[in-house]
Amino acid sequence: MQNDIQEVLISEEQIQEMVKELGEKLSVEYEGRNPLVICVLKGAFVFMADLIKRITVPIEIDFMAVSSYGASTKSSGVVKIIKDLDVSVEGRDVLIVEDIIDSGLTLSYLINDVLKRRNAKSIRVVTLFDKPARRTVDLQADFTGFVLPDAFVVGYGLDYAEKYRNLPYIGILKPEVYSS
Ligand code: PRP
Ligand code: MN
Ligand code: MG
Repeated sequence: MQNDIQEVLISEEQIQEMVKELGEKLSVEYEGRNPLVICVLKGAFVFMADLIKRITVPIEIDFMAVSSYGASTKSSGVVKIIKDLDVSVEGRDVLIVEDIIDSGLTLSYLINDVLKRRNAKSIRVVTLFDKPARRTVDLQADFTGFVLPDAFVVGYGLDYAEKYRNLPYIGILKPEVYSS
């Protein structure tokens, strides 16, 4: 697995430092409140697990899995719910946790077609990584860790064909891995 990595882009230490910083900011943001923290499966689960340990206000957590209708139609913006939330978001301060924002379609769907319609009180987004160069819809996170170049990155939850999620760092995949 390590042999498929060309270069470590963001080290485990850098990630952990950033997660701590984001946790501190979120603890200030949600002081006196009880946010519902939503993890977007699967990619965000590693970040989610580390992040919530750095949040000092009381929280509740839930999970949601979404998927685009086949890779070829991802740009169409058609997203479907694979696993829905267990709890109601009505009147709740919702914090969405994402690993990465790329085109922005996943989050745009979640925010505008799901959470707003279900009458969340507030909706904020924290993402550990952002690739603004790939955005096709106007969408920005409220809290962002690292801005990434438009390279083929994996690790810390991010996959290529479901692999590499368990790397503790962000690495750039060797071209021969995905071009063969
Ligand atoms: C990835 C990533 C984000 C989304 C970002 O998830 O984890 O959720 O794509 O891309 P977008 O901004 O273009 O929508 P993916 O659909 O690969 O599912 P996964 O989390 O299960 O890997
Ligand atoms: Mn995802
Ligand atoms: Mg994926």
